[in-house]
Amino acid sequence: MTKVLMVCLGNICRSPLAEGILQHKADQERLEIEVDSAGTGGWHTGESPDPRSISKALEYGIDISRQRAVKFTAAHFEEFDHIYVMDRSNYNNVVDLATSSEDREKVRMILNEANPGSNAEVPDPYYGANDGFEHVYQLLDAACDQIIDKLR
Ligand code: 4NP
Repeated sequence: MTKVLMVCLGNICRSPLAEGILQHKADQERLEIEVDSAGTGGWHTGESPDPRSISKALEYGIDISRQRAVKFTAAHFEEFDHIYVMDRSNYNNVVDLATSSEDREKVRMILNEANPGSNAEVPDPYYGANDGFEHVYQLLDAACDQIIDKLR
């Protein structure tokens, strides 16, 4: 079983969508992949995803409503094989908790799967307009296709 962790800041907008999308694709292809998510900040620990993320996922037939936010800790390096972050700030916060080069090598900016070395970021939609969630969904959907190809 390959274990993948999606990480953003609050674990209520972007990484819950990334978790839902990748798990859905893996299940459709009957791949042995388990996906979870976490946030580098703990403000929303225990909360459901943002209602805008829940409804965006539902538009595409994916139910993320049962997810609950957790804070990223160093223990996640032990449990997960691949850790995908949404932006540069997430990358720095996660890598700061790494204790080995093996840990650090697990961490990737998720949009680098499609555009290696670009260090492009999934924009934080939390304070923006509703269409930000559609844009985030499309970015993550394409990135998750790449991840599935890589892990297949
Ligand atoms: P996310 O969005 O990192 O995509 O979950 C955010 C949600 C909440 C906050 C920041 C980002 N916040 O500061 O509460």
